[in-house]
Amino acid sequence: MLKLAVLISGGGSNLKALLDATADPEFPSEIVCVGSDTDAPGLAYATAAGIPTFVIRPSDYDSREEWGQLLAAAIQEHGVGTGPNPGLVVSAGLMRILPAGFVRWFSPHLINTHPALLPAFPGAHAVRDALAAGATETGVTVHVIDEGVDTGPVLRQVAVPVRPGDTEDELHERIKREERPLLVATVRNIATGELDLAAVRS
Ligand code: GAR
Repeated sequence: MLKLAVLISGGGSNLKALLDATADPEFPSEIVCVGSDTDAPGLAYATAAGIPTFVIRPSDYDSREEWGQLLAAAIQEHGVGTGPNPGLVVSAGLMRILPAGFVRWFSPHLINTHPALLPAFPGAHAVRDALAAGATETGVTVHVIDEGVDTGPVLRQVAVPVRPGDTEDELHERIKREERPLLVATVRNIATGELDLAAVRS
């Protein structure tokens, strides 16, 4: 059973998709904790499912690295990133760059989902940036996290067409409809060994 630590910052619809998938005893993975950098509304999904949550705010620490150390410790308490089965950290809408020390500790067992076809439109405003650039197609990428901003090896992608007149919210919602099953399928593939993160290279 692959242990997951899920990190979120917002509404948590990707977290909800993972919770629904892992509720099935046949699914080869379980969520052991959900963490956030803020009082994310999505934490309520974890609480309702009886899964421990924690909030660790960067503003409470002197540096991003220190925040990352506390975040790592909170995850390790739940058995992810320690021992022979390292588990998996899933950044599912965490709107923070994870510090280098954090990435080095969990690497390569940490993935992120991003609402664009990387390497196009990295960063915090991927959907807005795709619209501003006049892209006719964007999508979603699940990738391994490295020390850069959305630069790690791509695992899975799905394209989503941009429709004339799309607002940022409309386009993001259509992306998320593809994103949720893609994230669940990627976690499943990692849990079964079909996808070997240790063998994935940029
Ligand atoms: C998702 O679309 C995710 O890809 C994006 O935030 C959304 C969270 O939605 N992440 C980023 O933009 C990271 N750069 P959710 O809270 O409904 O799961």
